[in-house]
Amino acid sequence: MADRSRNRRNGEDRPPFEPAGPGRPEGRIRALAILEEILKYTPQNDPRMGLLELLYEQLLADERQLREAQEMIRQFNETYEKLTAPANRIGTFLGSPQDGIAYIAVGDAEYYANVDPNLDIKKLKVGTRVKINEAFAVIGDIGYHPEGPIVKIAEVLPDGRLRIAMDAQMVSSRIVLRSSDLSEKALKVGDEVRLDPTMRVAIEHFQKSEIRGYFLEKIPEIPWEKIGGQEEAIRLIRDTIERPLLYPELYKKFGKRSLKGILLYGPPGCGKTLIGKATAYNLTQAYRERTGRDVREYFMLINGPQLLNMWLGETERFIREIFAAARERAKEGYLVFIFIDEADALLRVRSSGRYLNIANTVVPQFAAEMDGLVSLENVVVMLTSNRPDYIDPAILRPERIDRKVKVGRPNRDASRDIFAIYLNESVPLDPKTVQEYGGVEQARRALVEQAADYLFRKDRETAFLEVALKSGRRETLYWSDLVSGALIMSAVERAKDMAIRRCIEKGTDQEGVSLEDLKEAIRQEYKESEIFPKTDYLEDWLKLLDYDPEEVVEVRPVRGGRERRAGEMVV
Ligand SMILES: Nc1ncnc2c1ncn2[C@@H]1O[C@H](COP(=O)(O)OP(=O)(O)O)[C@@H](O)[C@H]1O
Ligand SMILES: [Mg+2]
Repeated sequence: MADRSRNRRNGEDRPPFEPAGPGRPEGRIRALAILEEILKYTPQNDPRMGLLELLYEQLLADERQLREAQEMIRQFNETYEKLTAPANRIGTFLGSPQDGIAYIAVGDAEYYANVDPNLDIKKLKVGTRVKINEAFAVIGDIGYHPEGPIVKIAEVLPDGRLRIAMDAQMVSSRIVLRSSDLSEKALKVGDEVRLDPTMRVAIEHFQKSEIRGYFLEKIPEIPWEKIGGQEEAIRLIRDTIERPLLYPELYKKFGKRSLKGILLYGPPGCGKTLIGKATAYNLTQAYRERTGRDVREYFMLINGPQLLNMWLGETERFIREIFAAARERAKEGYLVFIFIDEADALLRVRSSGRYLNIANTVVPQFAAEMDGLVSLENVVVMLTSNRPDYIDPAILRPERIDRKVKVGRPNRDASRDIFAIYLNESVPLDPKTVQEYGGVEQARRALVEQAADYLFRKDRETAFLEVALKSGRRETLYWSDLVSGALIMSAVERAKDMAIRRCIEKGTDQEGVSLEDLKEAIRQEYKESEIFPKTDYLEDWLKLLDYDPEEVVEVRPVRGGRERRAGEMVV
């Protein structure tokens, strides 16, 4: 038949016939197959042929659209399924008890889980996170967690496991494993480690935090003789701190505890810090001699206000660390001194205004740390303060800081001794003075005596401060009432500067310190020293005075004769 040949031809440029029905591939329009059938039997010259071919083209276009739509739906479905599938849980890999099985922790629960055969279980590290599917099979490795709590190691067990402290006092603790990466690492008690989120594995190691270096003070050689005056304070310290440490057996035999701490109080510049350091130096020397061991002192100098000005909670953490470091060093054989300067700022009476909320936690914490110090531990706590009345009485109880030692202003003889310490054999003296007294040593002794006399005069020039008391009484304070070791030292340094200047001006090295230099230096100290406030502000002055602050109504500086007269004229 003619149409057959045409159809064959047609069939060549059309898609081959596919039977309509269930076997029809996706995306094919059934009507297209039927139309192809019709076309086969329609003669070429049939007047409807044009329309049929148009229909055929249209159906082909529809078929293409259908395919595109189906592809879009497929993609949508795929995305939808991805987004609605349950999330993978994450667990911590703890080990592999047998091949293909992982021992994992998820939250508080533990599982023996199958491992995806595509995953090499031998490459999994203890402590890393693993992905888990709904059947709790391990299907992926995602490495160590980047975050987690940091804790202190309290003990390293022989099998390598670690006992870690869960609180600062190390009262409660738990045992954790080491991660694969820490298995060979040398870990020490006191080091810090980071735990994985399930808190079962230590996964990162931190060296001990370096608080020690921060506070550590070098102690120069300060034999007791380098402190002028203060005999009473020094005797008290030696009796209460030195002796029990040197003769612990005797104290034990008599059932006496050694002292844990003392408070040094008194006006600034009179030697509190100096005495603290001297205690550390001399005690260590004596201890070394007595025990025959090469003991070292470990002097931690801590500034009270500085410690207080930390972030909330940091102060407490620092106090803990200070005491922890002290104990540790004591265990290593050091004699440890915790020296807290201006302790009143830190350990203020709990009810007093300015430091109210902070002191509330710092004081009990400090008290607890003191109680935690065993007296045999060779740790001595020293506090200093200008205002011991501000320190919370909870701190100044027996068994804590049980001795108060006054480091007061030097009297005339002590002042002479301090002059002698700084105007010592190494300081060149004025040749005329040496000649006059018939020898260097005689001249030095005379200069020291006369400088002390000059400073301790009570006359118009040395009147320094007027104090009005509540009782209505007015008292005049003289230079000597405000003298300090620091002032005397500074005056001697000034006098040396004057002699040096003369040497330079005269082009000689034969000049030396004279009585005139010392006098001028002392005058300058009282005129411009940093020690004295530049204002009449009462609070500033009260720190320097020996009066009960409650009793003082007003202070008025009397600086030099001229100003004084001017003041009198105005009144
Ligand atoms: N009694 C003293 N003997 C010798 N030097 C002293 C004496 N008191 C103070 N000084 C000198 O003054 C400096 C400051 O004294 P310091 O001990 O810091 O006083 P404080 O701690 O009481 O404010 C010391 O380093 C020392 O040089
Ligand atoms: Mg000091």
